[in-house]
Amino acid sequence: MYNNKQITLFTLLLSLLLVTVSVQLVSGQQCESQLNSNSFFIQPNLCAWTVRTGLVEPRTIRVMSNGDILVLEKPPASQITVMFDSNKNGVIDGNEIAVLAKQANLNHGLTVQGAYLYATTPTTVYRWKYTPGNRTNLGTPETVMTGVPANSPNIMNGHSTRTIEFVNSTSDGFYLSIGSAENLDATSIRSRVVKCSFDLSAIPQGGYTYSQCTVFADGCRNEVGLRVDSKGRLWGVENGMDNLNRADIGGDIHMDNPCEEVNIFTNEGGFYGYPYCFSEGKLAAPYGKGNRTQWAVSLTDTTHTDVWCDNSTNVGKPVFCMPAHAAPLDIMFNDLSTFPPPLNRGVLVSHHGSWNRKPTAGYQVVAIDTDPTSGLPIQGSLTKVIGVPTDGNEWNIRPVSLAILRPCGAYTECLLFSDDNTNSVYAVRSTLNDNTTTGSTTGSSSITTPSLSSSLFIIMIVLSCLIFIN
Ligand SMILES: *[C@@H]1O[C@H](CO)[C@@H](O)[C@H](O)[C@H]1NC(C)=O
Ligand SMILES: *[C@@H]1O[C@H](CO)[C@@H](O)[C@H](O)[C@H]1NC(C)=O
Ligand SMILES: *[C@@H]1O[C@H](CO)[C@@H](O)[C@H](O)[C@H]1NC(C)=O
Ligand SMILES: *[C@@H]1O[C@H](CO)[C@@H](O)[C@H](O)[C@H]1NC(C)=O
Ligand SMILES: *[C@@H]1O[C@H](CO)[C@@H](O)[C@H](O)[C@H]1NC(C)=O
Repeated sequence: MYNNKQITLFTLLLSLLLVTVSVQLVSGQQCESQLNSNSFFIQPNLCAWTVRTGLVEPRTIRVMSNGDILVLEKPPASQITVMFDSNKNGVIDGNEIAVLAKQANLNHGLTVQGAYLYATTPTTVYRWKYTPGNRTNLGTPETVMTGVPANSPNIMNGHSTRTIEFVNSTSDGFYLSIGSAENLDATSIRSRVVKCSFDLSAIPQGGYTYSQCTVFADGCRNEVGLRVDSKGRLWGVENGMDNLNRADIGGDIHMDNPCEEVNIFTNEGGFYGYPYCFSEGKLAAPYGKGNRTQWAVSLTDTTHTDVWCDNSTNVGKPVFCMPAHAAPLDIMFNDLSTFPPPLNRGVLVSHHGSWNRKPTAGYQVVAIDTDPTSGLPIQGSLTKVIGVPTDGNEWNIRPVSLAILRPCGAYTECLLFSDDNTNSVYAVRSTLNDNTTTGSTTGSSSITTPSLSSSLFIIMIVLSCLIFIN
């Protein structure tokens, strides 16, 4: 039999073990060491976890005033799902998710404005009457607008996402982004952001038509991410062309050109270059003239020459250059007050990741700092928040859409991003400054927290064995 001393020691160890395991569970719930078995890079003092998996190619996510998270899932689901963390454990459990709305061919665009939820297919804008907190099926949508140019209404080829963002108030109407039909089209007719200033309190039967919109920003190849800032300016992130080649300035220059653009569209009706001009990311000496220089795409086009392209009267330049082929899909303004500087200011951009570049670019969420006076991005300030562990490789998490959730489980706030490759929504939070009421707030990121607990666990088992051998 065991003596009293052994029993006391055993009880003590058992309690310690239970404490260790419960600490691991609390932090583990909201900061797992792995995202779907992926290794990843994350900035110090941040940690990440899976909020929900098993979605169908989730695209745009938006957080409502009550904390409900809307997510658009692509076909074949073709639906808008609402997720609500009722038990505040930082993850969406099976009883915390419901289908809000279904409509054929929903594939990306989603926003809530006034008393309505708006979502898009390649050709059509729909809306449903919606108040945050409603988690029942919203039924059949109303058609807001039809006739958006697309290669085909049902086949998602060409650039088929139609991002929707309201101008400011509902009465100002909305912006809609349409991407090119091909890698390099003959004109910009498909490559623009339009402004649709409709009376949305009296939509005609069958909806308005696309031809009633006006061109707001022309020559934008595929401006997937759109956001209006607090000053009412429209920002966008643009996906540039593939396989760029110009014999006289280096031949195959596609690895670093064109740069993926951050734009601010201050000139209503302005032209931004595509398909005639491209933004220099990097050209080898002696050709290079620096980031954002505008160059002609074609040597045989005698109208849109290098001189024409780099004249700002003709072509609006991007405000910032991101790596070529990073595939930016969303941009949002960063007010994550708990994140360590400079990750608490400027803008956040999701990079879906490239196919037209080896080593690859993208597969990350980045922060770009902005100048407090001008409000413009600071050149060279791009910082990876979370992403592929080694730049140049693929990551099977491909960030799409960004949102900030407050509170986030037991914590003050977190950055959410969707991924249409592992069909998940992930969260990133600060481990330093967050004033959580439960769980661990200090010390290590998720990568080390569970392994520390596991080591403690193993040490205790070994100690227990030693006691009983005695
Ligand atoms: C939710 O929306 C549906 C459809 O519009 C409506 O019938 C229902 O009353 C709403 N429920 C709540 C709680 O707002
Ligand atoms: C946006 O709309 C609000 C309310 O309608 C108004 O107060 C504000 O001035 C508008 N902002 C801009 C930049 O137009
Ligand atoms: C220019 O853009 C490239 C991306 O194409 C980037 O790697 C580089 O850092 C940028 N240079 C500056 C000075 O911002
Ligand atoms: C830019 O283009 C405008 C309009 O064609 C022209 O008036 C101006 O002289 C050009 N600027 C330069 C520096 O070539
Ligand atoms: C936590 O921090 C946020 C933002 O800093 C603040 O608004 C909130 O009141 C704080 N909550 C508690 C419980 O201290």
